[in-house]
Amino acid sequence: MSSGTRTNRVMESKKEDQKKVQQIVRPDDPLSWDNAWKQNITPWDMGGVQPSLKEVMENSRIPFPRSGKVLVPGCGTGYDVFYFASLGLKAMGMDISETAVEAAYKARYKEPQNVFDNSDFVAANFFEYSNIIFPEDRFNLVYDHTFFVAIPPAKRSDWGKEMAALIKPGGYLITVVFPILPQTSTGPPYYVRPEHYDEHLQANFEKIYSKVPTKSSPSHEGLEHVVVWLRKNLSLN
Ligand SMILES: C[S@@+](CC[C@H](N)C(=O)[O-])C[C@H]1O[C@@H](n2cnc3c(N)ncnc32)[C@H](O)[C@@H]1O
Repeated sequence: MSSGTRTNRVMESKKEDQKKVQQIVRPDDPLSWDNAWKQNITPWDMGGVQPSLKEVMENSRIPFPRSGKVLVPGCGTGYDVFYFASLGLKAMGMDISETAVEAAYKARYKEPQNVFDNSDFVAANFFEYSNIIFPEDRFNLVYDHTFFVAIPPAKRSDWGKEMAALIKPGGYLITVVFPILPQTSTGPPYYVRPEHYDEHLQANFEKIYSKVPTKSSPSHEGLEHVVVWLRKNLSLN
């Protein structure tokens, strides 16, 4: 079988699994994500870090912290958490699914010692997280890849408030706008465009970077846009 045929089959099987996810995950019950994880229906799992994240972290000239704390909400298997940990950041992956967190802990054992030591995971609901951490434990950087589109659009305003509560003034939020597909009313993933973030972030964040990456993985080619937000030095708005 040619590699092109193999890639097409993988994409078809992911599309089938995406339909199954929409039947399993209930918009009013975030804990239902665990059922997808338990049934091993995880079409979003691309097996590694997106080149678009590496590009913005390594080539954008934004002075991202190289020490301090980073959070990856809805982290799944945790590839991005391990990447941030490899850069020397204390990286925390959070997922509401206990099964996902177990998978991430298992994956952590295969990582080099420095990555193992710099990474950790927690099973928690993103929308309750700022209530259970101390203000001094807020984050220098948060990375959202396929989390914004995993939550129902009615929760986007709460998503913006929670990001403002979790990120220290002067900290950064990296959002990968993906998948940029034709309009649909179903999800996850829910319909998204770069401007959908603006109304939920602009009170507390300044947009400092907005770019189509020069290099995307095959799954993200032509479907992603990276936006970086700087947390303003204000009390919460
Ligand atoms: C589409 S998957 C993306 C996983 C990972 N970011 C990736 O790209 O491989 C969305 C993830 O968000 C998690 N999730 C959904 N709602 C959540 C919530 N309210 N709090 C924390 N995690 C949540 C799900 O369990 C799932 O693992």
